[in-house]
Amino acid sequence: MSLNEDDARRLDEADPGHRALFYMPPAEGGRYPEVAYMAGNSLGLQPKAARAELLEDLDAWARLGVEGHLDAKRPWLPYHELLTGPAARLIGALPSETVIMNSLTVNLHLLMVSFYRPVPGRERILIEDSTFPSDSYAVRSQARFHELDPDEAVVRVAPEQVAAFLEAEGESVALVLLGGVDYLSGELMDIPALTALGHSKGATVGWDLAHAAGNVPLSLHEWGVDFAAWCSYKYLNSGPGALAGAFVHERHLGREDLQRFEGWWSTDPATRFKMAPVATPLAQADAWQISNPPIFSMSPVRTSLEIFDRVGMPALRQRSERLTGFLADLLAGFDVVTPASRGCQLSLRITGEAAGGANALSHKLRFEHGVIADAREPDIMRLAPVPLYSSYHDCWRAAEALRACL
Ligand SMILES: Cc1ncc(COP(=O)(O)O)c(C=O)c1O
Repeated sequence: MSLNEDDARRLDEADPGHRALFYMPPAEGGRYPEVAYMAGNSLGLQPKAARAELLEDLDAWARLGVEGHLDAKRPWLPYHELLTGPAARLIGALPSETVIMNSLTVNLHLLMVSFYRPVPGRERILIEDSTFPSDSYAVRSQARFHELDPDEAVVRVAPEQVAAFLEAEGESVALVLLGGVDYLSGELMDIPALTALGHSKGATVGWDLAHAAGNVPLSLHEWGVDFAAWCSYKYLNSGPGALAGAFVHERHLGREDLQRFEGWWSTDPATRFKMAPVATPLAQADAWQISNPPIFSMSPVRTSLEIFDRVGMPALRQRSERLTGFLADLLAGFDVVTPASRGCQLSLRITGEAAGGANALSHKLRFEHGVIADAREPDIMRLAPVPLYSSYHDCWRAAEALRACL
């Protein structure tokens, strides 16, 4: 049965999502006023509430100056704590295990200071060969930091080979650092099974959840993940370069044998202004903080996490499966490289002369059809119907536009 525009419209009536909470960019081509936005895996759209709430925070600065640290409606000193509960619920963690701070790669580095501790015979870092380049650069520089040769210390294997490698050579691995959802293929990795396997070999297991947080349900505490980090600008809709998150499992909190880089935000807030020369960190992920956080960057993260808290990941995941399932049906006949274990993103391999490369295709989709999709040269198009705001009609438009272009 072939699906048509009326089917998409009917499904949107029955299963509308939360589109009205977001600004939809106007289209620059095609016959609809708004874009069909399929790039929420790259940069999420702006929640309408973000602007007013950011203005409230800015007004507090205008009215109160330094007194805003304590007297603002949302006082700045404990501001980051407003984000902890919703972030913890999103990733299936305890609040004490969760902190919003810095950027993703910075957090990976800070966590590797604690969790990549090579010893002779167990020096390797295992990553997927498809890992996002920033992670690859990060682990190579960590190996160099420990005066190891990154070409020897960093092992790259195909995602489907990770388990076999751990079975065979896990005893030589100090750290496994994997992407929860692969940025290119959209594959959702078996986070609990790989974490357990890494642990059974004595390795520490950390996860980059850039493409997983806000996309798939996570239970980091229950799965025993050692540490994780994620960004907030993709599925978490908190704006370009938005602050990131970090998770440290409870069993590592308060450990005095772990190395951590410290600053005044690492110390117990109750004693912070005693200006003591030695930090006294709490047994919390907050101890990994270093600097006082940027309030106006935290503001949109707070707004956005509240939306996730209200809607809830279980409901979002269900809508995500319906929406992405619909898009998958519409894309029958295309070379979809995303496996069945996935979040909302589908990746297509585009071939043939009509395509002219992924970038050229995405240009055409945008300016001739008003469809924003995400190209990865040479031949991958990523389409992510996001359950908070994407519609079945967006999916239909994207599939129609691809058919017209290819
Ligand atoms: C999987 C993954 N890891 C790391 C990064 C780098 O993030 P940042 O620049 O926020 O450190 C990205 C950015 O898109 C990513 O997708």
